[in-house]
Amino acid sequence: MLKGQTTSLLSYREGLLGPLIKAASGETLSVQLQNNLTEKTNVHWHGLILAENMDGHPKDVYASGESFNYVLPIQQRAGTYWYHPHPHGTTAKQVFMGLAGMLIVTDEEETMLNLPSGESEIPIIIQDKRFVGTSLDYSPSADEIMTGYLCEQILVNGIFSPYASVAKGWQRLRLLNGSTARVYNLAFTDGIPFYVIGSDGGLLASPETASSIMLAPGERADVLVDFSALPLGKELYLVSNPFSEFNAQGRQGFKIMKFKIDRSTSDRFTLPTRLSSLQSIPISSASRTRMFDIATLVTGGMGGMGNMGRHSINGKTFDMERIDETVEAGTTEIWEFDNSMGDEIHPMHIHGVQFQVLERMGGRKKLIATEKGWKDTILLMPGEKVRLIMTFPDYTGTFVFHCHNLEHEDDGMMLNYKIV
Ligand code: C2O
Ligand code: CU
Ligand code: CU
Repeated sequence: MLKGQTTSLLSYREGLLGPLIKAASGETLSVQLQNNLTEKTNVHWHGLILAENMDGHPKDVYASGESFNYVLPIQQRAGTYWYHPHPHGTTAKQVFMGLAGMLIVTDEEETMLNLPSGESEIPIIIQDKRFVGTSLDYSPSADEIMTGYLCEQILVNGIFSPYASVAKGWQRLRLLNGSTARVYNLAFTDGIPFYVIGSDGGLLASPETASSIMLAPGERADVLVDFSALPLGKELYLVSNPFSEFNAQGRQGFKIMKFKIDRSTSDRFTLPTRLSSLQSIPISSASRTRMFDIATLVTGGMGGMGNMGRHSINGKTFDMERIDETVEAGTTEIWEFDNSMGDEIHPMHIHGVQFQVLERMGGRKKLIATEKGWKDTILLMPGEKVRLIMTFPDYTGTFVFHCHNLEHEDDGMMLNYKIV
């Protein structure tokens, strides 16, 4: 589409998307941010548990010309994490224009499993983009702030018409939805199932078979697929199928990426029955329950549709200086996000912690495969309510939680919580 043409974008080093960063649990990463943009930015390490000043809170932004050295002690499970800017009001634009990347953490427990690796381990960052002429275009209308900026051109790892030639065997796909607002209902053509092995916060206890996976902005799914029964030369697609008649984006389907089986392999892999030890946090250990209404729009709308309001949590929009919730380090709490009266899709994300999903009420009613492990982002379809349980770490300070529809986030659908 843009062959031989140039377009302007924002980038880490060069091109759309930053480098894939790999680290072993126990290591300390040091990443230098040098802001050569003409606007402020910072980096948030989505899914990592870090001290307040390293987390990329919207108050900790760096002006054009400034630099900051992120020192990131990786003290958590193997998993697929990611990084992106977090300046309030311009996060969506900066991510859309190219600033995002994947961060893979490995550990011994995972290495022991001998999961498909090398050419058989494929990072897949899915993003929808819009171009006007040859220019990448981020200009949401008031309506698009309500729905999210939904675009028709799907890129994987910053590439048009993405394609992978793969061996006739097992593949590991690390799926990340890096779109600002679009939700994908991922599946393979030809009835190839996913064996889900991990979610946002690393490995599940054991593989879960799924014919499709809903993946909201910010979420990750670590899956295995077995192509060994397919003939050489076979082409198949990772697609996103329509998922709801009642929602404009839910009616759309896309081809996401083509796979071509072009060689045989001598690799022999058998799916392990156990992946990891995963302890459920006992409900009885929770010291309190907090409830968050995410369905209500508050006044002060962007115009366009007249009486349209702004996205909010508990009737509040983001205030950098206001502490909305205070929690104690080391304690366990239940947080409920309630979209039961809502008619929009909201993927809710909490910084500074990984949670477990206790239950989903309304809507789809049950948990999907990726929700049976550690999570930092949870999808709420219209009419749904979820209960999450989490134990806060010992890093005291102010962190945010917000809708990861980045248009909603920039619109103010974000609050501060403080760990004391
Ligand atoms: Cu991936 Cu606060 O965000
Ligand atoms: Cu995050
Ligand atoms: Cu939202």
